[in-house]
Amino acid sequence: MVLITGGGAGIGAGLAAAFHARGSQVIIAGHGQARLEAVAARHPGMQVEVVDVADPQQVMALAERVGQRWPQLITVINNAGIQHLFDFAAPGPLDAAELGREVDVNLKGVVYIANAFLPLLKAQPRSRLVNVGSGLGYVPLAAAPIYSSTKAAVHSFTIALRRQLKGSTVQVVELIPPVVVTDLHRNLNEIPPRAMELDVFVAKTMAGLDKGRDEIVVGLAKALQFFSRVAPGLGLKVVNQQAD
Ligand SMILES: NC(=O)c1ccc[n+]([C@@H]2O[C@H](COP(=O)([O-])OP(=O)(O)OC[C@H]3O[C@@H](n4cnc5c(N)ncnc54)[C@H](OP(=O)(O)O)[C@@H]3O)[C@@H](O)[C@H]2O)c1
Repeated sequence: MVLITGGGAGIGAGLAAAFHARGSQVIIAGHGQARLEAVAARHPGMQVEVVDVADPQQVMALAERVGQRWPQLITVINNAGIQHLFDFAAPGPLDAAELGREVDVNLKGVVYIANAFLPLLKAQPRSRLVNVGSGLGYVPLAAAPIYSSTKAAVHSFTIALRRQLKGSTVQVVELIPPVVVTDLHRNLNEIPPRAMELDVFVAKTMAGLDKGRDEIVVGLAKALQFFSRVAPGLGLKVVNQQAD
């Protein structure tokens, strides 16, 4: 059984469909109930749970419900995320609530889900927690400074968690996507160039999970990881070339 946050759209819905096609029982959790139900309607037996991952009480309640109903849960995919653009060079202060919301969903949400579901995952003979990072966690997109920072933080958190859980039954995985064609980019004028099609991304992710990798780095995210280590200035130029 697999639970996927943000399963009502984009990458989460794509992974949910792939697990469902393999015969896994799938729970999609997110906050737009209609979108979740539309995905579930296309996949008989798929379960829907409404949750705001940024709310620790809702997340704990979700883990309790899931633990009671589906104690055989073995995979949790920490996928829900949002992206906003902020220009700190613009006059005046930015919208503090909007700034905070991105941190609450993309970073705190990942931490809350990990904390709430680890007791269930630890009780399994083998299980895994998959945190969704981003190539932008390695090389930031200047126009999305908070988003990029939260993804760098997710990377760091995932490494720390993996180390802490070394002796446990839980494998801690970081999935590092490149740009993928989804609605995440709704605040940009257009889908960024060289975006990967969702079905290609999902197939590569499933292959990485099947191989049991701790880090699944897909497509051009590999280049960003490499740039961040050997030529960070060049990486910054490549990612931000349209803006420069
Ligand atoms: N697409 C890319 O190029 C790309 C690249 C690197 C990493 N990623 C990461 O991949 C993950 C999925 O992104 P995506 O591209 O599939 O974006 P998406 O199409 O916008 O889907 C994001 C999903 O997250 C859900 N969500 C947002 N806030 C939530 C909250 N507070 N609680 C519960 N669910 C929430 C959304 O639900 P509602 O629609 O109901 O709000 C939606 O179903 C994100 O972590 C993103 O950062 C994406």
